[in-house]
Amino acid sequence: MNRTKESVPPSKGSIRRRLLLSLLLGASVLTVGVYFMILSVARQVAQESQDNVLSASAISILDSARYAGGEIIVDLPYSALSMLDSVSDERVFYAIRMEDEFLSGYRDLPEARPDADGRITFRSRPFLGEDVRIATLRRPLSTDVGRQFLQVSVAQTLTGQQQIVTRVSRTSFAVGVGVFALLVLLAGVIARSTIRPLDRLTASVSRRGPEDLRSVTAPVPSEMVPLVASLNRLMGRLKTSLERSEDFIAEAAHRVRTPLAIVRTKAEIIGRKSQDPHTRAAIDEMIHAIDESSRTAGQLLDHAMVTFRLDNLSMERIDLAQLTMNAVERAHPLSEIKGVSITTHSSAPAWIHGDPILLQNALQNLLDNAMKYAPTGTHVKLDIVVAEDTAILCITDDGPGFPQPEFEILTERFSRGPNAKDIVGSGLGLTIVREVMEAHRGEMETKNSSGGGACVRLSFPLA
Ligand SMILES: Nc1ncnc2c1ncn2[C@@H]1O[C@H](COP(=O)(O)OP(=O)(O)OP(=O)(O)O)[C@@H](O)[C@H]1O
Ligand SMILES: [Mg+2]
Repeated sequence: MNRTKESVPPSKGSIRRRLLLSLLLGASVLTVGVYFMILSVARQVAQESQDNVLSASAISILDSARYAGGEIIVDLPYSALSMLDSVSDERVFYAIRMEDEFLSGYRDLPEARPDADGRITFRSRPFLGEDVRIATLRRPLSTDVGRQFLQVSVAQTLTGQQQIVTRVSRTSFAVGVGVFALLVLLAGVIARSTIRPLDRLTASVSRRGPEDLRSVTAPVPSEMVPLVASLNRLMGRLKTSLERSEDFIAEAAHRVRTPLAIVRTKAEIIGRKSQDPHTRAAIDEMIHAIDESSRTAGQLLDHAMVTFRLDNLSMERIDLAQLTMNAVERAHPLSEIKGVSITTHSSAPAWIHGDPILLQNALQNLLDNAMKYAPTGTHVKLDIVVAEDTAILCITDDGPGFPQPEFEILTERFSRGPNAKDIVGSGLGLTIVREVMEAHRGEMETKNSSGGGACVRLSFPLA
């Protein structure tokens, strides 16, 4: 079929892909950020809880210290150190000093810098090949030589803290991977649902028949309103210009047909009166040309009417079988003149949604063809069948059939086959049928039956 070549603009990226990538980038940044935040909070919480235990331990050691008989007595409470190594296999160290004099514990244990206000201080340092957390607290003690400061440092290895952090890190990594997978899914859904109105608009516009220039009235997102408004304005302009040309054709056809009818009558009268065979032959040719022009004008008028109605379809629930019988009845006078018998066969009603005037016009064109191109005395068969969700009408004649091999081209405007040479016609009949079928979302197939006759198969979606 000779369609206008579609002009497809070059595509510059995909909105869906861009949206998806942005969402995925956001999701990755969010996941990594949340992962490190959880890790840092876990580290902080683990350290705070270790500091609390170290602090409690240092306080309980200092609480047990007293000065008696010129000596400093520290009853190292069992609970003070047991609370430190109860959780895991931590190693615990301590050091007790009076001013700068070492009293007990690990002499080399580093101390956290003592706080001037007597508050506990903490510090992380390597000790005996391991990282330890040291808490140092000092408290004044009255002795024989006056007020002196007793200082306790308690230290604990960081294994437990690191274990907690590793566990939290693993768990949050697994959760992070899961959340990221969910976000990827979500991003896909969001990207799809954001683009859906655009897809819907594209589908609704591309589903339309070539003559359907109605405005898009379905609601669209606000961002798409300017685009749809421009599209509607463009369609409006196209429709107006199309209507103008259709009106012009209709008017022109009407104005041509009337004088042609007068000329034909006059030519017939002259032909009947003339005895000269040359003159009669010339008059016959003249009449044929007049008939051809008149038919063309009539078909142009019908085509303009069909085009106009395609834009304003008045759809009804119609029984295709009944519609066909009406068309056959209307064609009866002509079929009698041509000596063509027409039979209709349908086993049940075939309900479809259709515009009765357009469908009548299409059927009339097909019957006209069957009677025109099949020789006198032949038979035209119309079969209506319902198959699943489709109503099918087959019109078969037992004439010579469509001229081979290009059936399809015959549905183009003004296209006529070589078999139409001496037969009056304009080449618009099958064009009208094709356009009517497109408007009804039906299909039209032209082929030759096994017996050789032309066969047109029209299928419609059932109502
Ligand atoms: N039943 C048929 N048998 C054989 N050829 C056919 C038949 N119907 C159509 N054709 C061929 O298809 C061509 C196009 O048909 P179409 O109905 O469009 O135009 P037309 O009959 O020539 O003119 P119009 O219908 O406008 O008066 C015809 O010219 C003819 O060659
Ligand atoms: Mg025809």
